Amino acid sequence: MGKKNLISITDFTKEEILRIMEFAADFEKNPYQPLLNGRVIASLFFEPSTRTRLSFESAINRLGARVIGFADTANTSVSKGETFHDTIMTISNYCDMIVMRDSREGSPRYASEISKVPVVNAGDGANQHPSQTLLDLYSIRKTQGTLDGINIMMIGDLKYGRTVHSLLQALSHFNTTFTFVAPPELEMPVEYKEYLNERGLKFIEKREIDDTINEADIVYMTRVQRERFSDPMEYERVKNVYVLRNSMIADTKENMRILHPLPRVNEIDTDVDSNPKAYYFKQTENGVYVRMAIISYLLGAKK
Ligand code: CP
Repeated sequence: MGKKNLISITDFTKEEILRIMEFAADFEKNPYQPLLNGRVIASLFFEPSTRTRLSFESAINRLGARVIGFADTANTSVSKGETFHDTIMTISNYCDMIVMRDSREGSPRYASEISKVPVVNAGDGANQHPSQTLLDLYSIRKTQGTLDGINIMMIGDLKYGRTVHSLLQALSHFNTTFTFVAPPELEMPVEYKEYLNERGLKFIEKREIDDTINEADIVYMTRVQRERFSDPMEYERVKNVYVLRNSMIADTKENMRILHPLPRVNEIDTDVDSNPKAYYFKQTENGVYVRMAIISYLLGAKK
């Protein structure tokens, strides 16, 4: 296999997605597989992160590789004015893979075009978050027993929430039914709705969390992405638009599970946390196994 990147979830076929699911299940059974002894992976976070960076770094360590990199650019030569191009050209000489996050949409794609080593997009602006999508799929498969025919309700910031964009594209392989709940300012962008239309997939749009929540297999909550708003007043207007409370899920299906990529702000009340349908903290654990799977797959280290 030549250099293989993961920039958009559409870089992976359905078969590759399913292979990542199998690898991740194997890593969950045995999370200490030193398949990458002696390798070095760069973790470059130009934008803040807790889960993605630390679960990637945990995955790298569990695979026996070593991590170099930075969690912000303050102590790098970016602060002296070095360009993104020169930063990537330099670091790709030091490692076997680059995992990177950036607020600028498209910068991981650009990095992959100039880097000697594979690049994994750990989130670029409001665009894509493909490793999150793979762990979301893994969480859906684990809790529902299948990826096929799921009814998913996506709630919140569907405009700027990159996780829902890549998840929608991935789920389009699996005959999914979608309900989008968002205010007009934050509704699912038209290009993603066209993506579903072109594939003959059903979706409905709502402004409120109503009784259709009782038909959902997965309720996927999202945070209103304050950092993407150019107008702070607009953020203030919509920031608490939906708050999921325990009382609202009393009549939901037995198999229903609540996912959230996290961090949460106010969109899930803490009274939901002890409900067995709350899956969002277990979801973060799945991220380690899935990221072990992604890294070992892209580096051809696991068969
Ligand atoms: N889910 C997610 O991307 O979380 P972080 O921003 O903490 O990495």
